Amino acid sequence: EIPEVEPHAYEQVQLGPWDILKSDLILTNEKLGHGQFGQVRKGYVKIIGDHQIPVAVKSLKANSFEKDKTDFMNELFILKKVGKHPNVVCLVGSCCIGGTLYVAMEYAMMGDLRTYLRRSRKSKKNLYVNYKTFCPLPQTVLLKFALDVAWGMAHLAERQIIHRDLAARNILLDENLVAKVADFGLSKNEDMYVKTSHTRVPVRWLALESLFSNTYSTQSDVWSYGILLWEIVTFGGTPYHGMETRQFINMLKQGYRLRRPRYCDGALYAMMLQCWIERPESRPSFADICSRLQRMLEDSQ
Ligand code: ADE
Repeated sequence: EIPEVEPHAYEQVQLGPWDILKSDLILTNEKLGHGQFGQVRKGYVKIIGDHQIPVAVKSLKANSFEKDKTDFMNELFILKKVGKHPNVVCLVGSCCIGGTLYVAMEYAMMGDLRTYLRRSRKSKKNLYVNYKTFCPLPQTVLLKFALDVAWGMAHLAERQIIHRDLAARNILLDENLVAKVADFGLSKNEDMYVKTSHTRVPVRWLALESLFSNTYSTQSDVWSYGILLWEIVTFGGTPYHGMETRQFINMLKQGYRLRRPRYCDGALYAMMLQCWIERPESRPSFADICSRLQRMLEDSQ
């Protein structure tokens, strides 16, 4: 006699176009860094004609904490809403095997942007800007990273998705170094989100209104995007390095902002400063940012 097993809530959610057959998902033991809900592993999904594509697989066990389950389901919901875009790490599909929910996402071979930038500092083939200053990566490469992320974010903004954790560590690079926005664990599908719980937040990337009144919007994502630009031109630097949280928050309130990094030209720094305008409505939109970066990229080529 086989006992009746009560289906878990998420087993009902997976019906739809995002379903993968159990037999089409191949899991490996290769770990790909840590997600919020335990491990991310490399896998493959079989597609038509005997081909298989590499994927990053996040999993959720049926006996996980309720909080982790809700967060995981939220991320899956957001991923379905995001749809396909070349500058977003997209959902491939999900499937439930033996009480565990597996979510397969596009695999980004070159890893996260922060690690990539930091590794470039040690590169032997530095490029000389002039006879005494060298730069680990060409300006065009840096501007292209910035533009890729802005395209991805413009797509999210169009769909009223607030990312809430935009930072270089959450940008992944594919085999052609195309940058893709990832990690939707904290994302919300709302115009404005007010945080009520006391969970950990990425303070150094947060807008003033998020720090002081827990409010999040596409315009607070624009602030974080400005910090991400700063990370790009500092090759993975830590914002407000050496300062304590309370110290830099007070200085931000008084109007202090991160200084212009060495490899950052005036136009790019001006845009960063606009991302950090106190009034959210006065910051540029992602669409604005895209067209300005496109011009900067054309001028630098
Ligand atoms: N680590 C976490 N997510 C990943 C992804 N989608 N591709 C490669 N490495 C990852």
